[in-house]
Amino acid sequence: MPDRLLGKVAIVTGAASGQGAEVARLFAQNGAKVVALDVNPEGLDRLSDAGPDILAIECDVSNSEQVQAGVAEAVERFGPVTVLYNNAAITLGATGEWHEGNDGPLADVTEEVFDRIINVNLRSQFLTCKYTLPHMLAAGGGSIVNVASVGGVFVGTGVNAYCVSKGGILGLSRALAHSYGPKGIRTNLLCPGYIETPMIDRHLKQPEFVAGLATANPLGRVGQSSEIAQAGLFLASDDSSYVNGAVLPVDGGAVARSV
Ligand SMILES: NC(=O)c1ccc[n+]([C@@H]2O[C@H](COP(=O)([O-])OP(=O)(O)OC[C@H]3O[C@@H](n4cnc5c(N)ncnc54)[C@H](O)[C@@H]3O)[C@@H](O)[C@H]2O)c1
Repeated sequence: MPDRLLGKVAIVTGAASGQGAEVARLFAQNGAKVVALDVNPEGLDRLSDAGPDILAIECDVSNSEQVQAGVAEAVERFGPVTVLYNNAAITLGATGEWHEGNDGPLADVTEEVFDRIINVNLRSQFLTCKYTLPHMLAAGGGSIVNVASVGGVFVGTGVNAYCVSKGGILGLSRALAHSYGPKGIRTNLLCPGYIETPMIDRHLKQPEFVAGLATANPLGRVGQSSEIAQAGLFLASDDSSYVNGAVLPVDGGAVARSV
């Protein structure tokens, strides 16, 4: 059995679906005790076949009390958390005609939509870091992997509030890398391109979108959650012991094409 995370306790947010579910399973297969946080109880149930090394907790990561309770339960069950994989997010992009309640060009975005996206995508990462860092400090080190997106850090897209939230995660990650690197806690940013998950299901049903993938990046295809999980495993594990404050696109080369 691979053991790149043997002895580590990892929190993975947004672990009920897509990339997060794949990451939770891969981390457990690599010897970690994994605490999976998500708002989707059915998706969390699906992780139960992964065995006792994954503890699934229903948790809205934009809610401070729920994050604090989730971290406390993780520590009580498995011990100090030394890996944090911040992955939970939403997008409220429009398909077809834009309507109130969607993300889009900023003048069209309601304050409620903006606040919701910032809370779930960005503030959640502040909260999970804030309440996990004391345990990493007590343990003498750790690794934080924050998931953003190429759309928000490298290239603009029409979903402006989503891009703001993902750009904010870049600042958060660099600040953490600066403040906590000296204490043995590394923070890195992972930026997926298009990955085949429920988040982009509605796009993948549109023939024009699928046809556009052939030229969207030099590899000419959509990525898979397993390809993100391998990059996440590298950043989470000691294999990346000298990597801190890095920004890693996992996007088939979309960023290389855009600059
Ligand atoms: N799929 C893509 O093409 C793509 C591209 C770029 C970036 N990303 C990013 O990758 C990450 C993973 O997304 P995915 O593609 O696996 O999407 P997904 O929709 O399959 O998974 C997102 C998960 O986050 C959970 N979640 C949402 N709000 C939450 C909350 N308040 N508290 C706890 N959990 C919550 C959802 O229930 C879901 O399980 C996200 O940060 C996303 O922004 C995805």
